[in-house]
Amino acid sequence: METSPHRPRVAVVFGGRSSEHAISCVTAGSVLQAIDPDRYDVVPIGIASDGRWVLESGDPDRLAIKGRDQLPQVDASRAGVVLANQDGAGRLVAHDASSVPEALGQVDVVFPLLHGPWGEDGTIQGLLEMAGVRYVGAGVLSSAVGMDKHYMKIVLQAQGLPVLPYTVITARQWESDPAACREAVDALGYPVFVKPCRGGSSIGISKVHDASELDEAVAEARAHDPKVLVEAAAVGGREIECGVVEGLDGAAPEASVVAEITIDGTHEFYDFAAKYLPEEQTRLTVPAELPDRIAERVQELSVQAFEALSCEGLARVDFFVLPDERVVINEINTMPGFTPSSMFPRMWAASGVDYPALVDRLLRLALRRDTGLR
Ligand SMILES: Nc1ncnc2c1ncn2[C@@H]1O[C@H](COP(=O)(O)OP(=O)(O)O)[C@@H](O)[C@H]1O
Ligand SMILES: [Mg+2]
Repeated sequence: METSPHRPRVAVVFGGRSSEHAISCVTAGSVLQAIDPDRYDVVPIGIASDGRWVLESGDPDRLAIKGRDQLPQVDASRAGVVLANQDGAGRLVAHDASSVPEALGQVDVVFPLLHGPWGEDGTIQGLLEMAGVRYVGAGVLSSAVGMDKHYMKIVLQAQGLPVLPYTVITARQWESDPAACREAVDALGYPVFVKPCRGGSSIGISKVHDASELDEAVAEARAHDPKVLVEAAAVGGREIECGVVEGLDGAAPEASVVAEITIDGTHEFYDFAAKYLPEEQTRLTVPAELPDRIAERVQELSVQAFEALSCEGLARVDFFVLPDERVVINEINTMPGFTPSSMFPRMWAASGVDYPALVDRLLRLALRRDTGLR
């Protein structure tokens, strides 16, 4: 097929150092297939679990989940690559040990498909700013705030947006005065959810039913992050999500239809297995069966949360709708799960924007943005 020599070069970056490495690979497999090769020149770049950058194959089969013990990962033995600022533009340079460094050319836009720390948290965004490359999604500050459930709540609350009561336990507080920490948790009332502040995919999260379970849950969360968030449980709350995409040419952000997640009785909450392992019983209802006024409230709060954090590109905002119909924000994800069966693309598909169109819209938004201060 004839291709234009002026196709923008897209580097799809995936894998990464966080515990969500495998999920990122799965997402990359789908995005790589969805990018129109007539319009874009695509380079797949993997970040291995140890942080090494390599030129990946992008073979969708290699990037799929094959079973509980067969999660995909970036192959660290492939040729190394760096993204460097040369002559004011971001260029890729291959540095395979067996050959001289080879310039692979300029990158016009990076699609950072990384979840969790060292990816969704502003670190790669900072690197891309330094390299002078445009990229899809939120900038440094928004990514960092969105990643840290503590600061996310501070920012949302400061804008008057509803969140559940919480307390934060830092490493120093837990080590120097655990009794005071336990007291602050008791004041929330049980059950509570204990979470690593900068986690994702439910990794390290526990539901704590009474004070006797707290220490174990804190230890589990601290295995992933020295800073721990403890939050009042949304008892009887329904889990509702909404996708937000930045408007084109300065238009207001747009909210998708809202959707609901229901989990079968064997999972007490939406844990890692319920999220990703193929045979698990998780139901996504798109659109959610909710009264219009509640769905509209969710959409309105989603756009407000997107703006509160100065997000760009995309975000998924997750809610609990409580039995008394109060709507509270659980979290905002600046790089939500993005396989075609993930919630974010499904909500947009139900809103009239299919997967390839969504990928194209995000690339176009990123390419239109100037580099420099946002
Ligand atoms: N306060 C809460 N009340 C009820 N369920 C919760 C609460 N916090 C978390 N959960 C459950 O745990 C899941 C993961 O928590 P979340 O804060 O979304 O972390 P992650 O960033 O890992 O997705 C939620 O989808 C929900 O099922
Ligand atoms: Mg979540």
